[in-house]
Amino acid sequence: MSSNNQVYPVIWNDQSPAETLRGHVLLIDQTRLPNEYAVVEINRYEDMARAIETMIVRGAPAIGVAAAYGVYLGARDIQTTDRGEFLAQLEPIAQRLRATRPTAVNLFWAIDRMVKTAHQTLGAVAYLKQTLLDTAKAINADDVQTCHQIGDHGLEALPASPDKLRLLTHCNAGALATAGYGTALGVVRSAWRDGRLERVYADETRPRLQGAKLTAWECVQEGIPVTVITDNMAAHCMQRGMIDAVVVGADRIAANGDAANKIGTYSVALIAKAHNIPFFVAAPLSTIDFAIADGAQIPIEERNPSEVHTVGETLLCPTGAEFYNPAFDVTPAALIKAIITEYGAIAPAALKDQLASKQVV
Ligand code: MRU
Repeated sequence: MSSNNQVYPVIWNDQSPAETLRGHVLLIDQTRLPNEYAVVEINRYEDMARAIETMIVRGAPAIGVAAAYGVYLGARDIQTTDRGEFLAQLEPIAQRLRATRPTAVNLFWAIDRMVKTAHQTLGAVAYLKQTLLDTAKAINADDVQTCHQIGDHGLEALPASPDKLRLLTHCNAGALATAGYGTALGVVRSAWRDGRLERVYADETRPRLQGAKLTAWECVQEGIPVTVITDNMAAHCMQRGMIDAVVVGADRIAANGDAANKIGTYSVALIAKAHNIPFFVAAPLSTIDFAIADGAQIPIEERNPSEVHTVGETLLCPTGAEFYNPAFDVTPAALIKAIITEYGAIAPAALKDQLASKQVV
């Protein structure tokens, strides 16, 4: 966390100004929040791969940034001055990082950009390494700026009344899930900054509780009023007129606007529709996968059943039961009012045409 209380979950730390290449990555350990604020130092790509798998760092844009640094850390340790040999040795490093989590396309987007940069950069291996570090730093810095743009476009897309909005969000699409500021929580932050927010309702988000632990933590840090509810309370809150709009993040958006996000998002979208409450998805261009026609083709990560049957040391279920633990679900485009990107809020059906007209895809 910086001195101005802003949260940056992935930062590059130079060893010394003269030894930039020998620096390391600092990750906020998100598995320990909110009880403990701890920072983990990452020096090797394999440690970065494990940090992504174990969700020390999590959230689609944040794992993209982390993986980009991971590619650099792997590249740094390659012991050759031969360019062809260097590029050959880079591939298994990229592959290991790609294999960490399957759903968030930002991970693949960032790794592919790093590998492409290595192939397209002419010069000695030392220069390639420097260029890879510079590229990872650029991915990191760009994401913070992108989130601010998403926040401000989201503010324009939110309902004009009431004056002060009550927004529901699911999981954590905050500063912790990005390079900083957040996507869905970026919209929340912009609304708070401009006096348009009354309160955030944070679904606790079983099984890993990112809403209760991380979204609530971020809001409390900044004095944003937040109420944590269990996932099965959202319908009740909507029925009672307590929610004006829903804003969530995404891990991968298909060409038709179907959006994969944390498990439970689809149910929130369905109940929002039933109550005529606008449902927004906030995500950067790097989350959109135009290679995938619709949500049925988005790979859904299945995680360890222990996340369902055990909390801390406590077993919640009888032995003998079976468990299913998909980490994400897909909200059909028809339930989404707009996808809020750094290029503006776009109706899902117009996604490709509008981004093409801005010459960004
Ligand atoms: O499993 P997680 O915690 O990585 O899932 C995170 C989410 O589903 C977020 O909503 C999504 O990545 C968007 S982050 C800006």
